[in-house]
Amino acid sequence: MLDLKNIEGKYCYIQNKDNKINLLYFDKNNVIKSIINDSRIKYWTTNDIFISFYDCEKQEILRFRFNDELSKKYGYDILFLDGLNVAHENLSAIIVEHSIELWLHSTRFLMNDLVIAGILDVKKHSYGKFIIGDHDPKDKIIIGDYVQFANNIVITSRSHRTDLVSTFPFDELRIYYNHPELLNSCHVSKNNGIITIGNDVWIGDDSMILSGVTIGDGAVIAARSVVTKDVPPYAIVGGVPAKVIRYRFTPEQIEKLEKIAWWNWDDEKVSKNMDKIANPDIDAFINEFYEE
Ligand SMILES: CC(C)(COP(=O)(O)OP(=O)(O)OC[C@H]1O[C@@H](n2cnc3c(N)ncnc32)[C@H](O)[C@@H]1OP(=O)(O)O)[C@@H](O)C(=O)NCCC(=O)NCCS
Repeated sequence: MLDLKNIEGKYCYIQNKDNKINLLYFDKNNVIKSIINDSRIKYWTTNDIFISFYDCEKQEILRFRFNDELSKKYGYDILFLDGLNVAHENLSAIIVEHSIELWLHSTRFLMNDLVIAGILDVKKHSYGKFIIGDHDPKDKIIIGDYVQFANNIVITSRSHRTDLVSTFPFDELRIYYNHPELLNSCHVSKNNGIITIGNDVWIGDDSMILSGVTIGDGAVIAARSVVTKDVPPYAIVGGVPAKVIRYRFTPEQIEKLEKIAWWNWDDEKVSKNMDKIANPDIDAFINEFYEE
């Protein structure tokens, strides 16, 4: 649980529903430093219950309370505005230890509604967002670490059956069509199950990923693909339906990269070895880390 009295040296990300964002640093002597955009917030104080933010005239302008329940679900320490200013009622704030976690495009931040609803499970460094198509609430979308979403990506977990006289979802629209016997026998929705996207996957613009698909680690989904079947690790797939264009590396290299699984390293190790991860010498990387 967040110790509100001990936040000096930490970072804070404040976001409202209009996506206006403040990135702040809790500096010494209760001074706030803005990381991007200048902020009205200049000072902070805490007690056991609140963090308060003040303007340059030391007027309290925001007051946040820690929310333990949501923090557990979300994986970050989350604060919620505590009624000081109704004009800001949609504000929430996240407190993190390291500036790297303030990555603005993090999928976890951008799609936090789905994370909180338990539909989306996504690791820390994955970035970008997708449009969620028709979705069965029973089904999860599981996304690994370091996944890169480009623009206009749709992930959809549900189809309509095509073998009935009509594809119209009568069973879903009970309010309009209330024939219990009929409804029990006609399940128009078809659902192929959980969508799983591995680690270090790059998903190109305008792609669509259909239900039940698993995308392997290191795969690339070319722009405008429609992914209807599983994608093997380190494959580049493209087209409608998406087919393997080529593999990024040899089968031996892929097997070893999967065992090394650098995406499971802690941030410090990734940071220390970034020049080796962002490097075309695949064999040098494998030689150094495979037997580790
Ligand atoms: C797949 C991609 C990464 C290129 O990979 P590559 O291995 O360098 O591919 P090449 O350009 O050499 O093309 C290889 C083959 O794939 C085909 N191909 C490339 N992109 C394709 C696509 N989006 N859909 C279908 N086929 C595609 C090429 O036509 C070529 O076919 P051929 O062998 O029959 O001539 C790139 O085309 C792509 O789609 N990038 C995504 C861009 C994007 O969405 N950016 C968003 C911002 S991050």
